[in-house]
Amino acid sequence: MTDPPTEVGATVANDLFDKYVLPKVALAVILTASLVGTWVTGRLADQTAVVVTLAKWSYLVSLGVLTGGLVWKHLFVRPQDLGTDASEYCAEMYSRFDSVATVAVVVLASSGPFVLAKYASSLGTSLLVVTLGVLSSLWVGTTVVTVRRSTSVDEQFRSQSGLLTMALALAVVVVTALAEVSLRGFDPMAAAVRVLHLLAFAAWIGGAVWNIFVAVPTGQRHPTTDVVQAAGEQLERFRWAVRFIIPTLFLTGLYQAVDAFGVSVGNYLGNPVGLAVLAKIGCIGLLVVIFKLCPMWRACSPIDGVCELEDLGNGRPSGGSAEGEADD
Ligand code: HEM
Repeated sequence: MTDPPTEVGATVANDLFDKYVLPKVALAVILTASLVGTWVTGRLADQTAVVVTLAKWSYLVSLGVLTGGLVWKHLFVRPQDLGTDASEYCAEMYSRFDSVATVAVVVLASSGPFVLAKYASSLGTSLLVVTLGVLSSLWVGTTVVTVRRSTSVDEQFRSQSGLLTMALALAVVVVTALAEVSLRGFDPMAAAVRVLHLLAFAAWIGGAVWNIFVAVPTGQRHPTTDVVQAAGEQLERFRWAVRFIIPTLFLTGLYQAVDAFGVSVGNYLGNPVGLAVLAKIGCIGLLVVIFKLCPMWRACSPIDGVCELEDLGNGRPSGGSAEGEADD
């Protein structure tokens, strides 16, 4: 059973969990930027059919939601979160993520074979395509097993099967990026850049979905100080990751843009694909503004002082504080 919320805990929890309009706007911008990116990639690889763009985008989004979610599940949650009242919060988050993951797996299983067939039709049954097929099948298998298995949060957290699923997810993102680059002729530098672009995208969209659809609704049901502390620290770890994700997306995006269109602004203004790239620059600018403004991503919580959770008299002796985890 959850402890009845303390007055301070409830106040902090309301502030922490209610102000999340900006993260939803951010998620919409990330989705838009990824759709535009998928369209640009399709245009550059002569795969212009709307159905192909939508299938690839669905595939990339479900891949990202699962990958970023697994990163939160095993890396942003920490062992100390399981030894307190927040353990029940983590257990409920894990079960909510199972529902999100189920939807993502259905989307992945519907779009993945189509995307794989597209790669096979352009690249043949090359080692890359076969590797992607094998890795994806293994990954969907381990994901389904881990999602359907109803074990305790302690057994799931950083379990062998959980970490294997996360590693396979990351590997599928990497091999997908390699396959995408190969559609226009493999180049090691372009491949490395695309791998980073897609990994950053996956970590961001998966973390954003976890934050909005898993962490916040669960936290609202368990507004105790232990939960607020664990939630604030996990959010701060995500925020810390976003500080790397934003420049990574921007720099790798810029590299790809210059690689395809050069540095002359006229090359971008004169055609729809170039304009789409400029729109993406606008998207990342908007996301930077949201990141700066967003109370949930700023200084680990929307309210002053939640980073000094130990001031509530409930600091963890061994777990470290939100301040300690923060990077600034
Ligand atoms: C909001 C952040 C961003 C997200 C979520 C995002 C996401 C994506 C995705 C999913 C793709 C498709 C990759 C593929 O199919 O392999 C892509 C491609 C691309 N992105 Fe981004 N991107 C972002 C920011 C940027 C920025 C700021 C730029 C430019 C400065 C950029 C430039 C590009 C280009 C040029 C491509 C096409 C690459 C190619 O096919 O050669 N992106 N992006």
